[in-house]
This record gives sequence, C-alpha cells and structure tokens, in this order.
Amino acid sequence: MHIVHTIADLRSALAGRGRPAFVPTMGNLHEGHLSLVRTARQHGDVTVASIFVNRLQFLPHEDFDSYPRTWDSDCSKLQAAHCDLLFAPREADLYPEAQTFKVQPDPTLADMLEGHFRPGFFTGVCTVVMKLFSAVFATTGGGAAIFGKKDYQQLMVIQRMVQQFALPITIIAGDTARADSGLALSSRNGYLNAEQLQQAMALSQALKTLAQASRTGRIPLADLETQAIGQLQALGWEPDYLTVRLRSNLQIPSAADLATAPLVTLGAAKLGSTRLIDNLEF
Ligand code: PAJ
Repeated sequence: MHIVHTIADLRSALAGRGRPAFVPTMGNLHEGHLSLVRTARQHGDVTVASIFVNRLQFLPHEDFDSYPRTWDSDCSKLQAAHCDLLFAPREADLYPEAQTFKVQPDPTLADMLEGHFRPGFFTGVCTVVMKLFSAVFATTGGGAAIFGKKDYQQLMVIQRMVQQFALPITIIAGDTARADSGLALSSRNGYLNAEQLQQAMALSQALKTLAQASRTGRIPLADLETQAIGQLQALGWEPDYLTVRLRSNLQIPSAADLATAPLVTLGAAKLGSTRLIDNLEF
C-alpha cells in the first residue's frame, strides 16, 4: 500500500490508475471501515482510503483532541484489506489556511437529528468531504465513494450533496458491521468500560423494538418514541432521540406511511460520557 500526505502526491499517485473507489475515514479502523474497503475493491480500478480527523466537524466540547489516533494498526489493517493507496493529510495539507469557504447542506435534511444535537456537524462533514472528493476525483474524472449506513443521515446528506452539485461520483452504501451482541461497531466503543460494553447492546435492541411496534399502528408513533426513550433512560442512558422516519427524506411518516413505506428507526444516546448512534431500516 502506497501512503501519501499531500494532495499533489495523491494526484500523482492516481495518474494513469483508472477510476478510484474511495473510503473516507477518521481512522481508528475497525471491521466496519474494512468492510467498506472490501466493497470499494468491487467498484473501481484503484482502492483509496483516507484517514483525517476533521476538526471542522467537532463542537468545542466534543472529543477532537482525545479522538483515538491509531496510525500503525490502521495501516496494517488497510494493507491486509488490500487497500492500494492511503491518503493521510496532515492538518496543514488539507487546511493550509483557515477553511473559510464551507459547504452548507440542505437544512431540511441536515438541521434535524444529528444536526440538531450537533449544530454545524454536517457543514463540517460536507466541507471536508467536498475537499477530499476534490483531492481524489478532480484529476480522475470521477469514480465511486463508499459510506456506511451506520451514519445514516450522513450518508443521505452526502448523497444529496453529490446529486445537487452534479459531482461525477457514485455513492455506494455499505451495511452496518455489528458485534455479536448487535452493538454497531464504532471507534467510540473504545471509550466504553467492560460494564458499559455489556449495556451498549440496549440501543440496537431499543431500535428493533420501536421498529416492530410502529408497524402495528396501534399506538401513536410519538407515544412509542417517548416509551422507547423512557426505557433507555431507565437503563441509565441519556437519549438524544429515538425516532422512526421515512427512509426517503428522514421526515416523520404519516399514519398511512407507517403501514407500508420504507422506514428507518434512528437513535442517539449517551452511555456515561460516550455518545453512540445507530439505526435500523425496516
Ligand atoms: P468515521 O466515523 O471514521 O467513519 C468512516 C466511514 O465508516 C463512514 O462512512 C461510516 O459510516 C463508516 N462506518 C463506521 N462504522 C461503521 C460500521 N459499524 N459499519 C459500516 N460502516 C461503518 O464518518 C466519518 O468518519 C467522517 O464523518 C468522514 C465521512 C470521514 C468525514 O470526516
């Protein structure tokens, strides 16, 4: 695997290699990231991953400084997954000057759920992803990029950004990799102690229960959501939201939608000081 740090070196390394399939990450790689790399291998001529902990998408009180940086093991894992090229910009490579131009995402999609609890998060994500896309695809005439359904709203925001800016990039969605307990793999799971790791499966279970109950249509959805939040609170969690939404646009489903429309339950909750998110399509 070839490792480059600057946009210029990345573009030289990509010259003549065909269409890239690209997996952007913030490192501390686990099986979820690696499954995206394996998917990428089927969607391009050259498989590119990036590792960059993007300051722009963290709020001041969030974990930018303590976010786990595990360079050596990340490189071995990418190598083992047959990644061809790793782009690992330093902050000065991606942001040589303050990034004052930003990508402002569609507020009807980006201001709810994660965007409500983490204001500015999706502006930070869209801005860095646009810049990474420019680094990887501007000289290759486009290609594919793979994003995980684990971050469901992020995937939708990026899909809409690519569509609205007519970027020549195909977005591929990768399924969520989970532990046997059902817990979605996440870099932030490393913050959990042994006891919390045991408790953490309750989030995916709550989403499953909420999904099943909402299809029956017997109890109003808002009541089911409140119940689900109460159940997690009783287990010691601090939920931000547990909700059922339309898969197409993340809006609240009507009673008719509840019966048949493609839906997704999404949840975010803190266990101790660790904030976890998950979702389930149904
Ligand atoms: P990060 O959290 O490192 O995630 C990188 C990619 O891996 C994202 O597309 C995410 O959805 C996917 N991913 C994470 N956990 C997963 C799991 N359990 N199963 C499948 N895929 C999973 O998301 C980001 O970084 C950043 O916001 C980024 C897009 C890189 C912009 O900075």
